[in-house]
Amino acid sequence: MKDIADIRADFPILKREVYNKPLVYFDNGATTQKPQCVLDAVDEVYKSYNGNIHRGVHFLSDMSSEAYEQSREKVRSFINASKSQEIVFTSGTTGSINGIAFSFGESYINKGDEIILSRLEHHANIVPWQMMCERKGAVLRVIPINDKGEIILEEYYKLLSSKTKLVSVTQASNALGTILPLREIIAAAHSANVPVLVDGAQGIQHGIVDVNAMDVDFYVFSGHKIYGPNGIGVLYGKEKWLAELGPFQGGGDMVDKVTFEKTTYNELPFKFEAGTMNYPAAIGLAKALDYVSDIGREDIASREKELLSYATDRLADIKDLRIFGTSDHKISTISFHLKNIHQYDTGMILDKMGIAVRTGTHCAQPVMDRYGIDGTVRASLCFYNTKEEIDFLVKGIEKVKSMFA
Ligand code: ALA
Repeated sequence: MKDIADIRADFPILKREVYNKPLVYFDNGATTQKPQCVLDAVDEVYKSYNGNIHRGVHFLSDMSSEAYEQSREKVRSFINASKSQEIVFTSGTTGSINGIAFSFGESYINKGDEIILSRLEHHANIVPWQMMCERKGAVLRVIPINDKGEIILEEYYKLLSSKTKLVSVTQASNALGTILPLREIIAAAHSANVPVLVDGAQGIQHGIVDVNAMDVDFYVFSGHKIYGPNGIGVLYGKEKWLAELGPFQGGGDMVDKVTFEKTTYNELPFKFEAGTMNYPAAIGLAKALDYVSDIGREDIASREKELLSYATDRLADIKDLRIFGTSDHKISTISFHLKNIHQYDTGMILDKMGIAVRTGTHCAQPVMDRYGIDGTVRASLCFYNTKEEIDFLVKGIEKVKSMFA
C-alpha cells in the first residue's frame, strides 16, 4: 500500500488547521474528504468541456456525454454489475431508496403486503418505505438486534412470509458500525422469492462490493462517502427489475415519445434519469473509484481493520466510556458515550481541539431507542487516518472527562 504520508498528501484538506490545531477528521461516516485528482476531474469538466449531456450535437456536449457514460461503465466495473444499463445515477443513497420505494410500491405493493427492514437502518432506509406503506396500506416489519448491535437472524427468518414483498437492509450500520450478514439475508429472501435492496452507503468505501456475487437485486450508495463529490449517487438494479419498474421522476431525457395523450419511456438506464443529471459529479465519482482501486480495496479494508482494532482497544481502556456496537464484524466506526457527560459537550470540546466527530442520533433514532439513549459520540475512521490521531482522540476524551470531573 502507498505510504500513509503520501496518501494524506493526496487530500488537500487534511493539511489544514482548525482553531490553529491540526485537523483530525473522524467524521468519514458523514462524508469523506476528496483527493486532489477528484477535485481536478470536476474542475476540468467546467474549465474545458462543460456541455449538457445527451442533448447537443456540439463538441462540448459530446465530450461531456462521453465522459458521463464512461463514468457509468466505471461504476459498473467497480461493483461488478453485468451491464451498464443496470447502473442509474441519482442524487445519492437517499434519492436511490426513495426512487425504488416509489416505483416498487406502485408496481408491486398492495394492502397488507409487508416490507422487512432491520433495526439498524438509517432514516433514509426507513422513511421512504413508511411513506410508501402509508400510500399502499402495506406494513413494515423490523428485524430486532441484540445487545452487541447485531441483527438476530432467527427473528428475520420468522418474519419472512408469503406477505413479504421486499427486504431492504443496510450493509453496515452508520450508528454502530455493525456489518450485516448479507449472504444469509439474501439467500433466505431469495428462497422465499423476495427481492433484496442493500443500502451500501456505509459499505462501498470499506471493501470489495460485487453485486453479482452477492446476488443482490438493488444496491445503492452515495458518491460523497467514497471520496467522490456530493450530489451524486448510484442505484444498481438487476435488469429484470429495472425493465419492469416504472420511472420515479418524469422530465427530459427519460422519455421516448411525448404527446399530451401518452408518453413512452426511454430505454434503460435513461428511463430513471430525468432532467439534467449531475454529470460533473458522476465524472468526479469515477475518478474517486479509480483512486480507491489504485490504493487497493483489500489494502484499504485491512488498514481500516487495524485502525478499528487499535481505536477499540484504546477507547475500551478509558474508565466510564461505553462503546455501543460491539460486534466482531464492524466497519471502522466507533460509537461511544461518556458516563454523565452529554455527547454534544464531548463533541464540542473535541472540536476545539481540532477533532471532528459526529454527535447525536446519527439519523438512526430506532438504534438509539434500542439502548435507551439519546445519542452517542461517533468516530468514523478511514484509511487516511492514523494511530497518532487515535491517540490524540484518547487525549481529548481524557480532557473532556477532567473538565467534567
Ligand atoms: N448518513 C451520514 C452519517 O451517518 C450523514 O453521518
